[in-house]
Amino acid sequence: MSPFVMTRTLPLDATAAALRADVGEGLTRCPKEIPPKWFYDARGSELFDEITLLPEYYPTRAEREILITRAGDIAAATGARTLIELGSGSSDKTRHLLRALTALDHYVPVDVSESALTGASRTLLAEHPGLTVHALVADFQHGLALPDVPGPRLVAFLGGTIGNLRPSERRTFLSAVRAGLAPGDALLLGTDLVKDEAVLVAAYDDATGVTAAFNKNVLSVINRELGADFDPDDFDHVARWDARSEWIEMRLRARADLVAKIPALDLAVPFGRGEEMRTEISAKFRPEGVRRELAAAGLDLTHWWTDGEGRFALSLSTPAG
Ligand code: SAH
Ligand code: TRP
Repeated sequence: MSPFVMTRTLPLDATAAALRADVGEGLTRCPKEIPPKWFYDARGSELFDEITLLPEYYPTRAEREILITRAGDIAAATGARTLIELGSGSSDKTRHLLRALTALDHYVPVDVSESALTGASRTLLAEHPGLTVHALVADFQHGLALPDVPGPRLVAFLGGTIGNLRPSERRTFLSAVRAGLAPGDALLLGTDLVKDEAVLVAAYDDATGVTAAFNKNVLSVINRELGADFDPDDFDHVARWDARSEWIEMRLRARADLVAKIPALDLAVPFGRGEEMRTEISAKFRPEGVRRELAAAGLDLTHWWTDGEGRFALSLSTPAG
């Protein structure tokens, strides 16, 4: 097999059809809502990489610290031959795993962003000439079909991206991952932890406005793909801590009464001044909650590691016997 293969289980027209369906449904509902995977076109993936470098956005640095410290333990515990990474993005932190996993011969990055996969695969192949990279353009929430790769397999889901799923979606997602694991396989899960509200809010509303630009980029995606006429300047970025649900909620708030036209959907969407549209949640976790959600999906938590300041956790779990 050649060392680089890219498979698309999301046909391009299916992506467009899914966007039409999500936007049509989400913007005619009350409150209005847009599902988060549409943030990540090429520009959105670039903006996310900028977020990871912001002084306020601690999760990337905290998770990297854990990976650097624990990669050897992860390698010893799993002996993985294949690393499957869901929502891999730039795969930047993954290099710490790739270096430590000495038995590894396959890397399968999975993402909806084809541009992120292409960039990441090129970099990693240059660093690991012996590695077979099988990139998968796919939605990890829908019927994820993994290629036939040698075990033991380690499935990594980093960046706290699981927090972008709602609790019911997390249940479905974790059960699907569990169903795909064989004895000897493992799941490495990154979860951001509940902490001081000011620290959390700053991470999602930085001083220089990169996160605001990222949030508003979803409007540019809708403009480009569906011919809509959103002006991103008509909206303010809002990030709020919901103490009851223990998640950060991101919204876009209309600055004035306006109507957005979406020709591809034959739709005119009215916004009242101050009306807020939900774009993303980022749930924060407690150790017992992570253990419980894993157990409910048939996964036994075997390792729990945090950074020195206890801000972020990586857990390793295996299929329950
Ligand atoms: N793992 C990286 C990137 C996290 S950002 C890190 O830790 O820094 C979340 C990534 O998940 C983005 O690259 C985005 O394109 C991808 N993503 C979001 N929703 C997805 C979905 N439903 N299916 C596949 N990939 C998705
Ligand atoms: N997985 C990231 C997180 O929840 C995604 C993210 C970071 C994000 N900043 C954002 C999503 C701002 C929307 C808006 O931390």
